[in-house]
Amino acid sequence: MITPLIIIKNLDFVMRGGIIECMMTIKIIDVYDTDDLKMFLDNCGVSLQTFSYFDKRSFDVLNDHVLTLLIFDNDKPVGYGHLDKEGDVIWLGICVSEQSLNKGYGGIIMRELLSYADDNNLDIQLSVMKNNIVAYNLYKKFDFKQFKEDSDNVFLKRPCSV
Ligand SMILES: CC(C)(COP(=O)(O)OP(=O)(O)OC[C@H]1O[C@@H](n2cnc3c(N)ncnc32)[C@H](O)[C@@H]1OP(=O)(O)O)[C@@H](O)C(=O)NCCC(=O)NCCS
Repeated sequence: MITPLIIIKNLDFVMRGGIIECMMTIKIIDVYDTDDLKMFLDNCGVSLQTFSYFDKRSFDVLNDHVLTLLIFDNDKPVGYGHLDKEGDVIWLGICVSEQSLNKGYGGIIMRELLSYADDNNLDIQLSVMKNNIVAYNLYKKFDFKQFKEDSDNVFLKRPCSV
């Protein structure tokens, strides 16, 4: 059985370089709580060029997720992550808004998603476009291994580590 997550984390967070202090919050959201998700997508900028998950899906797809996270810089949603169950496979998705790239949010979201996966004994898969080197590097850093590819994408997986 998958552990229900009810935690909302508030962390005092010092941005890389220690110059800007902000309150970082990670929230678990569901299909009844999508205003912040809409705000995130509306302000995502170029990051949506390589995160097309919501291009052809309505927010109802959150009903299929075992976990959906938003990360906030003060009140502003700046990052998103999910674990989406499709049949027997759990797919990981992640996106950080253009203005918040390279500040460590992607790594924080990955740690939260993979900690949940390990706690619940879930193997995770994902696909990434071959030219998306930044995301590919991030996934390799978190021990994902390539297991197949097609003309545009590579497919990576990470067995539960417990
Ligand atoms: C991939 C993504 C989530 C990374 O988020 P981020 O907050 O910018 O990443 P972080 O600052 O936490 O960095 C984590 C790791 O990502 C990789 N990375 C980040 N920026 C990078 C860059 N400019 N060049 C190469 N690798 C980079 C590195 O491995 C880095 O680890 P390191 O700091 O130890 O070197 C972000 O680039 C993004 O949202 N891109 C657009 C949407 C997208 O492509 N989603 C994935 C679809 S498969």
